[in-house]
Amino acid sequence: MTASELRRKYITFFESKGHARIQGKSLLPDNDPTVLFTTAGMHPLVPYLLGQEHPAGQRLVNSQKCIRTGDIESVGDPSHLTFFEMLGNWSLGDYFKEGAIEMSFEFLTDPRWLGIPVEKLGVTVFSGELGIPRDDESAAIWRRLGIPENRIAYLPRADNWWGPAGSAGPCGPDTEMFYYTGDAPCGPECKPGCACGKWLEIWNNVFMQYNKNSAGEYEPLARKCVDTGMGVERVVAILNGKASVYETEFFAGLLKAVEAASGHVYGTDEDRDSSARILCEHARASTFILGDPRAVSPSNVGAGYVLRRLLRRALRHASKLGIDGSGGPVLSPLARLLAEETRDDWPELGENIERIAEELDREEKKFLETLQKGEREFEKLLPGLMKNPRRVMSGRLAFKLYDTYGFPVELTEELARENGLSVDSAEFDEAFRKHQETSRAGVGVFKGGLVDSGDAALRYHTATHLLHQALRQVLGTHVAQKGSNITAERMRFDFAHPAPMTETEIASVQAIVNEQIARDLPVSHQSMSLDAAKESGAIALFGEKYEDVVKVYSIGEGESLFAREVCGGPHAPSTGALGKFTIQKEQSSSAGVRRIRAVLE
Ligand code: SER
Repeated sequence: MTASELRRKYITFFESKGHARIQGKSLLPDNDPTVLFTTAGMHPLVPYLLGQEHPAGQRLVNSQKCIRTGDIESVGDPSHLTFFEMLGNWSLGDYFKEGAIEMSFEFLTDPRWLGIPVEKLGVTVFSGELGIPRDDESAAIWRRLGIPENRIAYLPRADNWWGPAGSAGPCGPDTEMFYYTGDAPCGPECKPGCACGKWLEIWNNVFMQYNKNSAGEYEPLARKCVDTGMGVERVVAILNGKASVYETEFFAGLLKAVEAASGHVYGTDEDRDSSARILCEHARASTFILGDPRAVSPSNVGAGYVLRRLLRRALRHASKLGIDGSGGPVLSPLARLLAEETRDDWPELGENIERIAEELDREEKKFLETLQKGEREFEKLLPGLMKNPRRVMSGRLAFKLYDTYGFPVELTEELARENGLSVDSAEFDEAFRKHQETSRAGVGVFKGGLVDSGDAALRYHTATHLLHQALRQVLGTHVAQKGSNITAERMRFDFAHPAPMTETEIASVQAIVNEQIARDLPVSHQSMSLDAAKESGAIALFGEKYEDVVKVYSIGEGESLFAREVCGGPHAPSTGALGKFTIQKEQSSSAGVRRIRAVLE
């Protein structure tokens, strides 16, 4: 079965069940500050899931282009993609668990539709958390339809809960359908999540019952909804008896083109196969981003930065396959091929192909020069690095590659990993910060970002620790301080984060900081070895070159401990005297680095 046939069947099936077909939307969301890309079919439907009337009715069906980059490091394995198509059926206050599961089961197993043998299917349901009980209702429906109890896995929120797509919005427990990609489940208890690793998720029914508001609370929705998502590439793979999406129509032509350009025969070397998959996948995703009516260009911020990362990672893997651009452009021929192959399904690619090719060629030319220089320099350094008994490349060297050749540190890390080395990223961050500070004209170098140790500066310095921790809580632990600058009137704080913060995120961070100020937490410090500091959970990315014994500042203590950081000090004695913390501005500082300006009043 082809993707077109699957799409047609899905839509026909749900139309026969009273659903109206609606058009998929742009990959780049309109009017939604909480996400960079459309990550699921539910995205453009959020207002309706929250209660608005949809003009087409309460039962809808659609196909939606999606981009997800959370899994970018997994791309290269047989099932993960950054770009994919999702088919979905929607109930806006109409059917709920029973109707949704019955229709899913019928579409999957009935020979008139997909005809998948029931023995190949397993499901997961929500095991209960957050005061919400285990979803026994869904499990009972599955059992009644013929899925045996030993193929039903009960999994927690991390697996069986969906949404919100951004920081706030509709969400709820889900039940997911899996297909066994081996011959037959490996034993009587083999169910999704089994260590045999052969269950592939193909479809998800989400029971939207809550709205997570901007304060992080779950409010029950007045009108319960169903949001489902079926991954087209994965289902086409299994229906054609393939264990991998890369062995199907989506990648056959692209992989062949890569074989021809590189001379590598797919299937003969796992490392090179993985590079070929990454190259094809990222070329495909980038072509769809550039071919979108709301296309962005590669840049250093937001969606443009994600696109740039995809393109650069693709080119790096092309170069590993020996395709270095000397034989002509690498990516635009893949884009042309894809546009040609999918002209019936995705005419926007063909219509925009000249612009797509031009953008790809421009970015490629810029990057290949950087890449070649950087890789050459890395090769020169390698023999020396291999002699290092700790197998660590110093952050200063990584910074030199970045500073002199523009070689991105992610790529240095990837090259290092391939050679069994790691990069001292704390030292890289420190060098990066110093560089930023010295390059700020007329500002001078401030030790630890501190201009003086007047009272105001002390208060601001303590506020940077609160802010750093609050950012890590709200945005994730990838947030690392890249620099700070304090005067008696305000603070600036630079940190690694790939996207602009949403208003909700800014409001949450500000609220967390003010909460710690209101708690009047004591600020204390202790000296300890760097290892002990790291063990105690202290953030240790920043500061002067660490000595063997470092100072660790804690804000709060025991149960009230909020933040702990390796730092030279000095600080305010407690948070109570800091004043009211207000974020005035959040903006880009450089590639992948955001800057916050805040005041204490
Ligand atoms: N939103 C859910 C998902 O992406 C179902 O469509 O899996």
